[in-house]
Amino acid sequence: MQGKRVLLIVGGGIAAFKALELVRALRREGATVVPVLTAGGAHFVTPLSLSALAASPVHTDLWSLDEGGGMGHIELSRSADLVVVCPATADLMAKMTTGIADDLATTLLLATDTPVIAVPAMNVRMWTHAATVANVATLRARGVTVVEPDEGPMACGEFGPGRLPEVTAIVAAIALHFGPKPLVGRHAVVTAGPTHEPIDPVRYLTNRSSGKQGFAIAGALAALGARVTLIAGPVALATPPGCTRVDVETARQMAVAVEAALPADVAVMVAAVADWGVIVSPAKLKKVEGMPRLDLVENPDILATLGRAVDRPGLVIGFAAETEATIANAVGKRATKKADWIVANDVSGDVMGGDANTVHLVTAEGVEDWPTLPKAEVARRLADRIAQELA
Ligand code: C5P
Repeated sequence: MQGKRVLLIVGGGIAAFKALELVRALRREGATVVPVLTAGGAHFVTPLSLSALAASPVHTDLWSLDEGGGMGHIELSRSADLVVVCPATADLMAKMTTGIADDLATTLLLATDTPVIAVPAMNVRMWTHAATVANVATLRARGVTVVEPDEGPMACGEFGPGRLPEVTAIVAAIALHFGPKPLVGRHAVVTAGPTHEPIDPVRYLTNRSSGKQGFAIAGALAALGARVTLIAGPVALATPPGCTRVDVETARQMAVAVEAALPADVAVMVAAVADWGVIVSPAKLKKVEGMPRLDLVENPDILATLGRAVDRPGLVIGFAAETEATIANAVGKRATKKADWIVANDVSGDVMGGDANTVHLVTAEGVEDWPTLPKAEVARRLADRIAQELA
């Protein structure tokens, strides 16, 4: 981001205070931040704090002669390398969608041909309202990057999607925009998360996979410019920017989704696919009927099928989560599943669900031991290796 000029539009929501932190983070990365504060935003943060942190005057008024003599707003948005709207309120996005330009921020957004990243934050009901859903879809179709909000407790006491993402995630979305794109024109298929294998209409078998590592890899590949199809088992994670997500429940559904996503240049099978499915009871099993018998059936091995497929991606990568003999098992798995690489990890600690991972990359050349790293960093390194391999 060194030397890049970011026009930051701060909308009126409780999350506006996090925009202050964003200003600091962007400046630490070397960007120049030019802040624009809406009237709503000024209820939550002061122009003075925004200006002090950005080390730049704050622009607030469309009609101010001091702020560029009438036409200043055109210049303001065009001179930026990127426009970031954070927080992007439901109101701001609705105005962006319909082309309303009734204040400085909305006029800048209408007058610019600079790329725009919107970081929404709002009450869960506002986020899930059909109007907002339609507006977000329209903005995305027009090329605006709308970052997926986080899910969690909200200032209003409700719970759900609509929270502003962590500042590090916002910076990552912005870095993605500016970074090198060696994977442009490449298609990556990534599986992530666990699968649910239904037992009856209300119960299922599953495992402890959180999906964090697979989602991070999908995001890291998208950050390098790849078109990413992220096939996700049931997880509560936001879709990383730039990924097309296909949600599935069972291993069989995942296998079908992977096949449908081909052809691809690279496949990274990170999902902890259940090895066995259950012959599903059409009715809920009743305790009074005594101990049930679960008949298991072997699930398709998606990775092994892919390794042998006619339209096999040029680079097929599997994961091997082990609790013992990690490397020996991974080396064996690479051969039996006809994968090019296996990323082996010891999951006897709290890897599943945790934020760090210690992996070994097993390739035809041998085994590389990577240090313990945050899952996001493992993802970045793997994506870089993939880019080198496909170069
Ligand atoms: O044999 P194991 O399950 O340990 O192999 C793990 C690797 O195989 C992972 O890459 C996982 O995504 C993949 N796998 C699969 N389909 C299965 C089981 C595992 O794609 N049914």
